[in-house]
Amino acid sequence: TANENFRHFLDLTEFEGGDLRDILKIGRKIKSERQGVRRGEGPLAGKVLAMIFEQPSTRTRISFDIGMRELGGETLMLTGAEMQLGRGETIGDTAKVLSRFVDAIMIRILDHDALKELAENATVPVINGLTKQSHPCQIMADLMTFEEHRGDIAGKSVAWTGDSNNVLASWVHAAPRLDFELRIATPAELAPPQELIDTAKAKGGSILVTQDPYEAVRGTDCVVTDCWVSMGDDDAEQRHNLLAAYQVNERLMSEANSGALFMHCLPAHRGEEVTSDVMDGPNSVVFDEAENRLHAQKGILAWCFGAA
Ligand code: CP
Ligand code: NVA
Repeated sequence: TANENFRHFLDLTEFEGGDLRDILKIGRKIKSERQGVRRGEGPLAGKVLAMIFEQPSTRTRISFDIGMRELGGETLMLTGAEMQLGRGETIGDTAKVLSRFVDAIMIRILDHDALKELAENATVPVINGLTKQSHPCQIMADLMTFEEHRGDIAGKSVAWTGDSNNVLASWVHAAPRLDFELRIATPAELAPPQELIDTAKAKGGSILVTQDPYEAVRGTDCVVTDCWVSMGDDDAEQRHNLLAAYQVNERLMSEANSGALFMHCLPAHRGEEVTSDVMDGPNSVVFDEAENRLHAQKGILAWCFGAA
């Protein structure tokens, strides 16, 4: 049945801070009521979410699958290679066909334009499950996690050390919307695109970009990093050389505020971007972030369907 009220979830740039707060609130409410949830019943009963994975996934795949079931719905797991997409059917036509069968589509695909083309041609909600350009679902879970541990993120500061990638881009998008400071350290060769930073600053974001990880981390409330080699990167050796100085270890963490959180979207490469001391340390919340993918995305799903 046609639902005129559906909404896509493509990028945090498409939202105001208030929308993001609404989605987080739905996610938190669903999380607090999770005890006693019976799979198969719930606000999305009878709905089917198709998931297309052009790249591997552990957390995104499982959290959307379980989240959908806990909201009463079902999922269909697809890969481009198994569909005619792999033989040249356009993403637009695929969107039109899927829209006749399923109630929402989540896609992980490197090409961000392909995500947009899918959304433009779909008549059901489309959710960004990671592109080369952004990873908004991850940052919703990260925001939820930060606030569970340290309260309102507004006025706090978050440091990023590593390369500029999809996860950082969604942090940059979130910063002016939820009013926190972002302090970014990357090597010059792997710096964030100027337009990304300028757009966030124009929206009122307080954003520092430096090549010095110590400068970025000094006095911050949270230190975030990610793998050095993202899906689709083909310059692993160069990245290892450039990024060695950006590792999050005890020495770097000691520059942050005492009690600063450590975050990582996972999967982590222990001994590369983060040491095990930090990853397993008392202020690491990496597994809370992983769990909160489930709760934050249930908020996103309910919001996309207008069910909450
Ligand atoms: N953090 C994240 O998106 O993990 P997966 O690649 O396992 O989905
Ligand atoms: N930046 C990483 C995130 C993985 C969840 C990648 O794109 O591979």
